[in-house]
Amino acid sequence: MAVLIYGGLGHVGSWVARKLIDQGQEVIIFDMGAARFSSLGLDYLEEVRDSITLESVDVLDSHTMIEMALKYRDKIDAIVFGVAVIAGPTFKDRPFRNVSINTMGLLNALEVARILGVPKFVNLSSGAVYGDRPGGQTEDTPFTVTDLYGATKVANEVLATQYGATYGFDVRNARLYFVYGPGKRPEIMHPLYQAMFGPLAGMSDVHSANGGDQELDWTHVEDTAAGILALLNAEGMNGEAVNISCGVAYQHRDIVDRVAKLLGKESGMTLGPGPFTPRGAPLDISKAQSKLGFAPKYANIDAGLADYKTWLDKDPR
Ligand SMILES: NC(=O)c1ccc[n+]([C@@H]2O[C@H](COP(=O)([O-])OP(=O)(O)OC[C@H]3O[C@@H](n4cnc5c(N)ncnc54)[C@H](O)[C@@H]3O)[C@@H](O)[C@H]2O)c1
Repeated sequence: MAVLIYGGLGHVGSWVARKLIDQGQEVIIFDMGAARFSSLGLDYLEEVRDSITLESVDVLDSHTMIEMALKYRDKIDAIVFGVAVIAGPTFKDRPFRNVSINTMGLLNALEVARILGVPKFVNLSSGAVYGDRPGGQTEDTPFTVTDLYGATKVANEVLATQYGATYGFDVRNARLYFVYGPGKRPEIMHPLYQAMFGPLAGMSDVHSANGGDQELDWTHVEDTAAGILALLNAEGMNGEAVNISCGVAYQHRDIVDRVAKLLGKESGMTLGPGPFTPRGAPLDISKAQSKLGFAPKYANIDAGLADYKTWLDKDPR
């Protein structure tokens, strides 16, 4: 039996795929980037390429998606939905397209689960469902929407949970937060990410217009993926949402300083005042710890930064 990962070539999905394969699980990936696989620089997936069934699928093309899913109809015992346009300053520039990918894309994947009778569905959600509420948000903190991306995440949780309840399949929502690490090159990211993590890839002199006065629980991607796998595999979590982050908030200017210390030099990175995004931190991860046995390996960000540097130094592009 196999796990179907939508967005399995993305930052988070690719690590979920790798960890599932390491556990001996069969993996099918539906991702619009499939044709570009060999140029994505995902060395940890290339190592296990023979164990992956990879299909080029656009989540907005529901007919092709269902036809493709029917090819594997008796094999899929779980779906992980990780396609999204992620939060960032440009999300609002193309609202119809971005909301469609996130929410119509999810709806199409839920239809696959319904039509094929897939018993389990994990929706990759976000701490964005708490909007700008202050840190320490638990899974019982009410939904608060402070941007369009957050609106798609709230809508998706409600839709996914209700689809499961209506059609009798198990739905779980993994609320992720601010992921960094191997698989993502800083050069393709927004200025705040570049200013914090870019020096690890040799970048210098980036100015982020904001973010300097904010602290967030930046989470190493392998911890994020480990939490998702724990949620996927846990017994008795039907209908539950779980916060998955490192659980420790770091001030953004502190991250810049820690990177400089790791490298032994300053890289001329500057952060303007105010928050980068309307979010509080850190998420309360006690539910993941107690119900899933989740224990982030990189709760100390210095260890996560060193690991990220090791991957960037290899430059697997
Ligand atoms: N990265 C973060 O910091 C973060 C934080 C909280 C939640 N999340 C959530 O985690 C999930 C995964 O995020 P990520 O960082 O891996 O994103 P990502 O951008 O790295 O990956 C998204 C993947 O979806 C694919 N994709 C995009 N549009 C598609 C389409 N129309 N059809 C098919 N495939 C398409 C892309 O090719 C890519 O491989 C998302 O749901 C995101 O909202 C991420």
